Amino acid sequence: MATSTSLVIPPLQFHRGSKRRGSISASISETSTNTPSIPSITITPTTKPPSFPIQKIPEKSNFPFITPVKDRLDYFYFQGREDFFKSRIQTHRSTVFRANMPPGPFISQDPNVIVLLDAKSFPVLFDTSKVEKKDVFTGTYTPSLELTGGYRTLSYLDPSEPNHAKLKSLLFFQLKSAAMKVIPEFRSTFATFFDEMETELGVNGKAKFNDPCGTTCFNFLARSLYNTNPADTKFDKEAPGIIKKWILFQLSPVLTLGLPWLIEDLLIHQARLPPALIKSSYAKLYDFFYQSSGPILDEAEKIGISRDEACHNLIFSTCFNAYGGMKILFPNMVKQIGRAGAKLHRKLAEEIRSVVRSNGGKITMAGMEQMPLMKSVVYESFRIEPPVPLQYGRAKKDFVIESHVAAFEVKEGEVLFGYQPFATRDPKIFEKSEDFVPDRFMGEEGEKLLKYVFWSNGRETESPSVDNKQCAGKDFVVLVSRLLVVELFLRYDTFDIEVKKSALGAAVTLTSLKR
Ligand code: HEM
Repeated sequence: MATSTSLVIPPLQFHRGSKRRGSISASISETSTNTPSIPSITITPTTKPPSFPIQKIPEKSNFPFITPVKDRLDYFYFQGREDFFKSRIQTHRSTVFRANMPPGPFISQDPNVIVLLDAKSFPVLFDTSKVEKKDVFTGTYTPSLELTGGYRTLSYLDPSEPNHAKLKSLLFFQLKSAAMKVIPEFRSTFATFFDEMETELGVNGKAKFNDPCGTTCFNFLARSLYNTNPADTKFDKEAPGIIKKWILFQLSPVLTLGLPWLIEDLLIHQARLPPALIKSSYAKLYDFFYQSSGPILDEAEKIGISRDEACHNLIFSTCFNAYGGMKILFPNMVKQIGRAGAKLHRKLAEEIRSVVRSNGGKITMAGMEQMPLMKSVVYESFRIEPPVPLQYGRAKKDFVIESHVAAFEVKEGEVLFGYQPFATRDPKIFEKSEDFVPDRFMGEEGEKLLKYVFWSNGRETESPSVDNKQCAGKDFVVLVSRLLVVELFLRYDTFDIEVKKSALGAAVTLTSLKR
């Protein structure tokens, strides 16, 4: 079994000096086993000649101000994100080209980026010897530092910055300390959640999934990572509302909220929302985390980070990275699995219940390893809809990137941008790439495809370390995703849903939960 599937949180690598991700910085030659026509997947080191003659990166005429504004309006309103990229692939006859990414004027100085839309060019964004990840977490602009206590938090740091290794190792310490609490706290918080969904269904015939699930995710994170039950504090149910506003203040330049386009574009895409408006709410968040983080803040001081900086970083990793990620991921997973229908549900229920039964009724990480369909369904959810779809990096030097059919020269300082769903739905790698195929990652051949699952800002077959920018919570996230599917099918034989769009993914309503 690939290393990525052994969900043991403690052995996460957090020692500087651990072997660099040589598999990325060196040349990898990988040929997809079920699509023999694909050329070998090679991240070409500068020392090796490219496989194709070098071409100029295609671009349309780019007039200052006018084109970035037009691109922004096309992206959000006149074409929509996916058509924005698809139409440009057709125009340029290339999956690599230049375009402007939102927000553009007046927030970002230089919105022009090199767009990467295939599984071969995209992984250059993981190669920190080639791309710098400093201040590119949200793209071509950065949110005000007032929203994070004046600190540049870990997500905005390049591994070459000294604080990156310290802060990432602090998170590994936190996750390792919480390892034994994840399964019991997940089970207990989500048991309450599903009980509430059943009650709501009984009364109203339907139950909205997203907001109650978000509150449950926050309770679960607070209880497992901080040993604190929000209900026992004066903070109680306030957190999800505050976090929603706080994330909005950071991401508004790159979000659509469904307002009339002219008003929305003026309100949120041309200037940042004033951070002063949520200062007092953020202060409440800070108090809650400061009170709950004693042992982690002690550890921070030991490794040379002030309690204040550590606390702002914990807020960011728990509320933005973890809570924000789960709030997008869980409804999307339930949507994909719900749409796949009762036949899949029955198979999942059989597999999950039989393993849990043979384990004396217990859910363990080892037990979940024996559920190949459940594991594949989780990976397929990550593949088809990566929860964080946009990734950026700035070229640290001149180098050559390759798509499946061409090579292009990138100059030092240029910004590279990848829209991940196009890389993980690349038809040259995945058969029926646009379809949710539940058993796609099962068996030896299926597992070979895991290296093309990129949701964590790295390959699923690789691990986060202090030297790379792969999601610090990768194993944790895979674990909680598996737990959601297991909990769902331990309780129910099948379920039905209705789905609408929301600012960050799917808005799911349960219309039945059948035992
Ligand atoms: C569904 C949940 C999650 C998703 C989808 C997710 C996704 C990601 C992605 C895509 C990145 C890279 C962003 C970039 O640089 O472009 C990232 C980075 C990061 N994530 Fe996660 N994440 C999730 C949960 C978590 C959790 C639970 C934690 C920790 C408790 C965490 C901590 C981090 C940190 C600290 C980074 C920056 C890593 C670094 O600077 O080296 N994330 N995450």
